[in-house]
Amino acid sequence: MSVFLVLLAYILGSMPMGYLVVKLMRGEDIRKYGSGNIGATNVGRVMGRKWAVIVGFFDISKGALAILIARCLGVTSPDFLAFIGVIAVLGHNFPVWLKFKGGKGVATSFGVVFMFHPLASILGGIIWYCVMRLSRYVSLGSMVSLSSVPFLLILLGSNRAYIVASTFLAVLTILRHRANIKRLLMGTEHKVGERVA
Ligand code: G3P
Repeated sequence: MSVFLVLLAYILGSMPMGYLVVKLMRGEDIRKYGSGNIGATNVGRVMGRKWAVIVGFFDISKGALAILIARCLGVTSPDFLAFIGVIAVLGHNFPVWLKFKGGKGVATSFGVVFMFHPLASILGGIIWYCVMRLSRYVSLGSMVSLSSVPFLLILLGSNRAYIVASTFLAVLTILRHRANIKRLLMGTEHKVGERVA
């Protein structure tokens, strides 16, 4: 059962919706456009806001679904649920279908955090929105908001396993944004609303 749930979390997380949408609608490989990422932000640059919202919703949902299924099948251990969530994000970031070259895991992490503690994800989402609107950089909003989640979980008295997992996800998010950090420092990062194709 545990192995099945871990595999299911990986497979769910690894569904590359952003890649598939651009491939099916345009016949193009999204990894050749904009930031090269398969996530909702880059889909928005190529296909417009409507598709960014659809991909974002799907990527959030798959993180939440991995944990929801485990819960429905009777898993109650926070340690194992936290592990399932991390696996779903690793699935998104390293999908076997794309030779392990996937996304940055932001939306999927938010779906996972929603299942850890809904209020923490809502507050994190508000932080993401404020930083993104003020700076006009989605990447900055993503890094600041996911880095704030472990502190929010501590303040909300959440389980230790969820705090540890969200800390791992925050570090992973920053590592996956290395190219964005370089562009931010050089002043060449893409701003919200830019179209590339
Ligand atoms: O969710 C990813 C976002 O933080 C950055 O996306 O395409 O600008 O690298 P992108």
